[in-house]
Order: sequence, then structure tokens, then C-alpha cells
Amino acid sequence: MTILKLSNISKYFQDGKNQVNTVLKGLDLEVEKGEFIAIKGASGSGKTTLLSILGTLLNPDEGTYWLEGEELLAKGVDKFKIRNEKIGFIFQDHRLLPQYSALENILLPVLAYQNEATEKEIEYAHELMKLTHIEHVANQYPRTLSGGEASRVAVCRALIMRPAVLLADEPTGQLDMSNAQNVIALLSEINQTLNTTIIMVTHSAEMAQAAKKIVTLKNGILQ
Ligand SMILES: Nc1ncnc2c1ncn2[C@@H]1O[C@H](COP(=O)(O)OP(=O)(O)OP(=O)(O)O)[C@@H](O)[C@H]1O
Ligand SMILES: [Mg+2]
Repeated sequence: MTILKLSNISKYFQDGKNQVNTVLKGLDLEVEKGEFIAIKGASGSGKTTLLSILGTLLNPDEGTYWLEGEELLAKGVDKFKIRNEKIGFIFQDHRLLPQYSALENILLPVLAYQNEATEKEIEYAHELMKLTHIEHVANQYPRTLSGGEASRVAVCRALIMRPAVLLADEPTGQLDMSNAQNVIALLSEINQTLNTTIIMVTHSAEMAQAAKKIVTLKNGILQ
């Protein structure tokens, strides 16, 4: 089942000298439910731009984007709601909020709509912490977490809304080799256990091996 489809996506940027830099040039992408895709590509090839478009954080200049059958670039689409409910993000720097505990950080997307998390939601947060082996840090604050723990908290936060797709931009970029391997193993496990669709950007050929499919962004299209 196709869960996500990009068709003929183009994105231009104006550079400093008023020259147009065409980063994406009629890019197509079709993703099946449960797929784990790695996107490789040279620095500056447009990987983060593509992920930002997938996350509805950036509008393309041309093209169409369907997620679970909905045309996201159409007028009147509530992008905040889509982003919060259907898309999980893992950034390179995990962006945890320092004033909240690990558990509270995980529950933040839930609290976009309600003052308190329900018992069921808290239970699911604990389930995710168990899956990612960080139950013992639930009440710790981000500054007291190791890098690997913090990135696992970020993974749990990205999953709490049971998103249709999980987007990860260089999730292992700031970790040492052993923690990087842990995060990749974790993403594989999540992909298999929860059947979460994952699109991950990585420079590393070794990290990309964990994905079921590897594509390369080059000359503005996926190859
Ligand atoms: N907001 C912007 N304004 C102007 N140019 C931009 C903007 N965002 C990105 N670009 C340009 O678009 C190109 C692609 O950038 P992008 O960040 O998508 O690359 P990337 O593949 O993620 O690179 P890296 O591997 O270094 O993270 C670059 O040439 C960049 O300078
Ligand atoms: Mg990038």
C-alpha cells in the first residue's frame, strides 16, 4: 500500500547573488507502508530540503505531495495538525526541552491539544521507553542524559503520536560509532516491531545498510 507519494517536486532558492539555485528538479518518490528508506547524497545535494518538504516545514515551488491519500499542498490543509499527528521527526541535534523530564519531553506532542496526557498515553510513553531501553531515565532532565539516551528520548517523542511516517535527518550524525549503531538498530527494530514507515537521511554508507531500500539524491532527483 502506498502511504506517501511525491510527484514532480521542484524547489528553488535565491542565492546571495540573486542567482536561482534549483535544488530539487522534478523529484518523484513513492513509499509503501512499513518501508525503511535511506537517502544518501553529497553535502548540499538537497537532502535536508527534501526532508523539510516531507515534514511540511517547507513548501516546494512545484509538485504534489500525498500522505495517506491526502493532498498536503492543497489549500486549507492544517499543516500543524498533519505535522503533529502524522509525521514524527528526529533531528540531528535532538532538541529536547531542558525544563521538562524525559517522560514529559516524550509526551510533548500529545500536549499540543490537551493540558494533560491520558493514562493510556502515559502507558504508551512507558512502552516506547521500554522498547528503547530508557525506562530508568523517565524522570531525568535532558542535561543529565547521555547522548545516546537523549537521542532515544527523541525517538520516543517522535513515535508517541503513532505517526504515519518517521523522518530522520542524520540521526547518528553527532553520536560515536557504537551509539550510532545503537540508534540504527533501534530504528530497524521500530520499523519491524511497530511497522512504522521510516525515511532517514544519512551520509554513511554503513548506516544506510540498515534500511531496506537505499536511494541517492543527485542532480535534484532520486536515483
Ligand atoms: N533557506 C535557504 N536559502 C537559500 N539556499 C538554501 C536554503 N536552504 C538550503 N539552501 C541551499 O540548497 C542546497 C541544498 O541544501 P540542503 O541543506 O538540503 O543540503 P543537504 O543535502 O542536506 O546537505 P548536508 O549533507 O550538508 O546536510 C544547498 O546548496 C543550500 O545552500
Ligand atoms: Mg542536511
